[in-house]
Amino acid sequence: MDFHGKNVIVTGGSSGIGKATARMLVQRGANVAIIARRQALLDAALAEFEAERVDSAQIFQAHSADLSDWEQAQAAIAAVTVEGHTPDILINAAGIAHPGYFEELPIEVFRRTMDVDFFGTLYPTKLVAPMMMARHSGHIVNFSSVAGFLGVFGYTAYGAAKFAVRGFSDVLRSELKPYGVHVHVVFPPDTDTPQLHEENKIKPPETREIAGNARVLQPEDVAQAVIRGIERHKYIIIPGFESKLYFLLTNGIIAFSRWYFDRVIASSRKKRGLPPAYK
Ligand SMILES: NC(=O)c1ccc[n+]([C@@H]2O[C@H](COP(=O)([O-])OP(=O)(O)OC[C@H]3O[C@@H](n4cnc5c(N)ncnc54)[C@H](OP(=O)(O)O)[C@@H]3O)[C@@H](O)[C@H]2O)c1
Repeated sequence: MDFHGKNVIVTGGSSGIGKATARMLVQRGANVAIIARRQALLDAALAEFEAERVDSAQIFQAHSADLSDWEQAQAAIAAVTVEGHTPDILINAAGIAHPGYFEELPIEVFRRTMDVDFFGTLYPTKLVAPMMMARHSGHIVNFSSVAGFLGVFGYTAYGAAKFAVRGFSDVLRSELKPYGVHVHVVFPPDTDTPQLHEENKIKPPETREIAGNARVLQPEDVAQAVIRGIERHKYIIIPGFESKLYFLLTNGIIAFSRWYFDRVIASSRKKRGLPPAYK
């Protein structure tokens, strides 16, 4: 896929995996808009993009917003889609993680994690998907986690929110497919980012031991897998060998149900005189 001149929105594009993905897209000539809360990080990321631009026509934008807030999400998406910048790709990488023993995690942590990780993914998608559906093209990339398909000790709050992202993405994929819009869900393992550093300060020892000697990826490894996944129209994107193996063992059969549902959906549309799919 040629990313040159494509309009990309990356939520959480000021840090870690989101920033690494945004930078790789900058290096491939895309117009990149990032959304996150802290202005200083947004500014620093924009300066990095400027230094790596490959075309003087590339447009970089940054908008500060808390994406767990519907009003702020609407303002942010409106700000980065003005002047005909209809997004070709939306990457929902904004997220937080707060591990801990279930009995010690306050209700507020569960609510906040769901607000940021799930609603912070839903809101931009709700705003951008209709534009892509009308144009019959686009890619939406949602970030779940290995803890979003496997129950991992210490992640009652994070796992619930990341399972929600996965459930949402599964359904969204089959609803948007007939419109030629590709949905992708990413399940990264531990990756060397500020989020992981923060988690490591508070992780229960059991969580630490489960992670054990598993290889910690670099944000660029995940970014590379995301870009390859978009290019190959892969719904499930799993960076790293060990996580792929875990997914196959726990979810191997799921590809069959996707294939079966797609057939039923196409046939139902045909019966109503609609094209089975636009692509
Ligand atoms: N690192 C890992 O080991 C790992 C593993 C699996 C999955 N993931 C997932 O991968 C994604 C990226 O994580 P990362 O490790 O790269 O994290 P990170 O370095 O902490 O970056 C998170 C980004 O999200 C933004 N953000 C957080 N809360 C936000 C909010 N309420 N509204 C708008 N933006 C917000 C942050 O900026 P502000 O704080 O300034 O808003 C930052 O840009 C997340 O969804 C994470 O859960 C990470």
